[in-house]
Amino acid sequence: MSKAMAGDTISLAAGLVDSATLPAEEIAAVMPDFFRERGRLALQYGTNEGLESLRRKVLSRIEKADGVPGGLDLGRVLLSTGSQQMLYILTEIMVDPGDIVITAAPSYFVYLGTLETAGAEIVGIPADENGMRVDLLAAAIERIVRAGKGASLKMIYVTTYYDNPTGASLSLDRRKALLETVESFDGIRPLVIEDAAYRDLGFAGKDVPSLWSFDERRDRVAYLGTFSKPFSPGLRTGYAVLPEELVEKVKIFKCGHDFGSASFSQQLIDFAIDRGIYDRNVAILRKTYAAKCRLMCGCLERELAGLAGWREPEGGLYVWLDFGDVDTGLDGAFFSECAREGVLYVPGEFCYPDRKNAPKGRMRLSFGPTSAADIEKGVARLSAALSARSSWGGR
Ligand SMILES: Cc1ncc(COP(=O)(O)O)c(C=O)c1O
Repeated sequence: MSKAMAGDTISLAAGLVDSATLPAEEIAAVMPDFFRERGRLALQYGTNEGLESLRRKVLSRIEKADGVPGGLDLGRVLLSTGSQQMLYILTEIMVDPGDIVITAAPSYFVYLGTLETAGAEIVGIPADENGMRVDLLAAAIERIVRAGKGASLKMIYVTTYYDNPTGASLSLDRRKALLETVESFDGIRPLVIEDAAYRDLGFAGKDVPSLWSFDERRDRVAYLGTFSKPFSPGLRTGYAVLPEELVEKVKIFKCGHDFGSASFSQQLIDFAIDRGIYDRNVAILRKTYAAKCRLMCGCLERELAGLAGWREPEGGLYVWLDFGDVDTGLDGAFFSECAREGVLYVPGEFCYPDRKNAPKGRMRLSFGPTSAADIEKGVARLSAALSARSSWGGR
């Protein structure tokens, strides 16, 4: 593929944030103050669970956004090296080879890879414009229980805000229904992982309470978030609010990994929140991504109306496209044609637990790191590749 690619290939594939929005100047301006106030703490080891003042901020922000009473034990909140590390650690703790994990289909493909590496059997529940089809969840769990594997069902993984890859959020009624469904089965207690990585990147519509907020006893749902998307992925700082029974286990694992995530990053984020830099940056990001998303969807409308289906997302970084019967897979002729035209996308097949039987025509486009000019050119190239259909055989 790399040989086939045009020299000026535009990637609409990478799920990166826009470098232009990273708060480099704002941070450079306060660095002397930061070092004066916190330099020695930032350069020292931190703690395994992470900086207390930042954990306190994380918890109070979630409680405020969710409109739930405060007072949860701060010990339940841990910082991690990106939320990816917490996903990995939870998987290591919960899943033995052959255990079952339920995810949406499609789902965040990096995490599907983590689950595969752990030897999990992944059961995919179809998703639509309101996220995972929770109405199909009970039947899926019943099938697992009937097959005598109820005890092997260890986790349910769900992205609740502006999903990667579909851009969809799990609707409020499905959030409640998901928990009710899980609780309706006696004798099985899968951990529900709520991945809220994109929650802060909402730019249309309203924030809705998390799935975690409906878990009144706070013992079934692990809420995972990250500072990567709203602030800086380079600082590699994520966070989790965990059921009590998992806290010690995660801490032991984490200590074995790294004695705690980088205290420099945590001190810097904490300082940036105190100075108002963080919230100002989130406001800028929302406007930037809203404009890029509108631009991408406008280009799609101009170039591909009637040839592909998509829904304009209300946040996040992704547009999910349905090209019907066109095979968008990595080994398909359309992918090669796009590479020749000089545009890359994420083939939808990567995002399905059962890749071999994944629907053929899906793809993920990202408007995150790409410039406005390249978004326009990239979508035009997709359209050109599709127009050349007869030359690549139509599939
Ligand atoms: C849905 C989702 N969850 C988790 C992550 C992990 O992000 P990080 O480790 O940077 O916090 C990503 C990154 O793209 C993501 O898309």
